[in-house]
Amino acid sequence: MLDKKMKQQLVQAARDSLENAYAPYSNYKVGAALLTGTGKIVCGANVENAVYPLTICAERAAVFSAVSEGERDFLAIAVATKDGGSPCGSCRQVLAEFGLDILVIVADTEGKVHYEKTVEQLLPESFGPTNLIDKTN
Ligand code: THU
Repeated sequence: MLDKKMKQQLVQAARDSLENAYAPYSNYKVGAALLTGTGKIVCGANVENAVYPLTICAERAAVFSAVSEGERDFLAIAVATKDGGSPCGSCRQVLAEFGLDILVIVADTEGKVHYEKTVEQLLPESFGPTNLIDKTN
């Protein structure tokens, strides 16, 4: 269980990361902060591109950065936007790869938490690693 102080710290890190978002096309900035099992906080922001589909969401930027640093055990992710927007389907799927129990804290730029749900709650009946990895061999 994450204590209140850690959740607040994570939300603050997501709000700080939002400032680094590169979103000249949508003007919709997103910040994410991922808490790892080793106690690290790894951040991400959305990075848009003139070729629109190349845009990367903040949540996936954070996950890919963390994995690149050798982290795969994630406890929680805080996401901050101006309106408390929800993580998109692609980001839910990427989070699901690393654990259905990861807590997703959705907050806004004022620091207000809109909801807290697990990845499993956000992506029920998901397709994931267990569909592909045969644990018997
Ligand atoms: N965006 C995220 O960063 N995360 C999400 O989960 C939803 C959308 C970004 C992508 C794009 O830069 C902008 O928000 C508008 O879609």
